[in-house]
Amino acid sequence: MKPTTDLILRLEKVTKTYRTKGGRFGQAGSRVVALNRISLDVRRGEIFGLVGESGSGKTTAGRLVVRLEEADAGEIFVAGTRVPELKGRRLKQFRRKVQMVFQDPYQSLNPQRSIFDTVSEPLVIHRMGNGAQRREAVAQALKSVGLSPPEDFFLRYPHQLSGGQRQRVAMARAMVLGPEFVVADEPTSMLDASISAQIFNILLHMRDKLGVTLLFITHSLAAARYLCDRIAVIYRGNLMEVGEAGEVIERPRHPYTQALLDALPRFGQCGAVRRYNTLLGAERPASQGVGCAFYSRCGVAQRLLCSTQAPSLRELAPGHRVACHYAEGPEAGTATTEACFYAT
Ligand SMILES: Nc1ncnc2c1ncn2[C@@H]1O[C@H](COP(=O)(O)OP(=O)(O)OP(=O)(O)O)[C@@H](O)[C@H]1O
Ligand SMILES: [Mg+2]
Repeated sequence: MKPTTDLILRLEKVTKTYRTKGGRFGQAGSRVVALNRISLDVRRGEIFGLVGESGSGKTTAGRLVVRLEEADAGEIFVAGTRVPELKGRRLKQFRRKVQMVFQDPYQSLNPQRSIFDTVSEPLVIHRMGNGAQRREAVAQALKSVGLSPPEDFFLRYPHQLSGGQRQRVAMARAMVLGPEFVVADEPTSMLDASISAQIFNILLHMRDKLGVTLLFITHSLAAARYLCDRIAVIYRGNLMEVGEAGEVIERPRHPYTQALLDALPRFGQCGAVRRYNTLLGAERPASQGVGCAFYSRCGVAQRLLCSTQAPSLRELAPGHRVACHYAEGPEAGTATTEACFYAT
């Protein structure tokens, strides 16, 4: 489906900080900035990929969007409404229209509930339909995720299903209320490649046939390339690069995106073939909260500029925005081997 320019989600300078508890022996707790002034838009009808390594703040972003948590600062709008302001009937409607599928289907399903009870529970909570209508809605939802014939699954329990089937049940549960917007948080990270491909096709079906908009969270640029219309790359809570999926993958401008692409395994190649070589062999001392978040690992960074000034997000091609001082310079993507083994 061709994405429209109508926005379903807007994040404006969203920040989320966690405080960890102190240790048993009197150590002070620490502060983790999970998201640092993130701004992005998701258009109705698209699959928008949020890509980054572990700990970069992807799940935090998803949890804020579906209002499982509150941001410390910044604004989150879904379909033009400020999410923290939703109350009463409008909050209930939001809970119907915006759903999240979690990373781990082993933890997200209650082992003591049958598949029918699991998938029909949201209908019960929202008091939708009578018994026959709920049965029909559950059957439709299971069919839409490829669990057919659906009646065969009604009385089964999660432990009687494979990992891929469990994730499909989790997706059916999200779909049973007819959502407009689904946050899919690494839905295939626990599954093998062929099952992942089936789940990807279900997500494409959701976009193309059911008109659902998706925020697809992943650590894999390859998965994002396959599925997404647009991609945002985040690193330690900072937005590094955003643009059309093809543009970001074919012409990555940020050294971190380039490093992620270098890390992708290539079929038929045994040795490491690095196209961009923008990652240092050893990390530099970090730039104490000022400067670029990627400075300590970046093979392109220049000490004075990058360690002291945080780059702003600049538009370098239509819709392609990058937060790097050297995004358009000849240095980007051409770091020398010496530079890649910075001595700490
Ligand atoms: N409830 C919490 N309390 C304290 N710190 C947290 C909490 N949730 C997340 N964090 C921290 O916030 C940062 C971002 O975490 P988040 O789970 O959003 O990352 P992620 O990109 O989803 O990682 P992964 O790919 O491993 O799922 C991490 O440093 C994490 O340790
Ligand atoms: Mg996560």
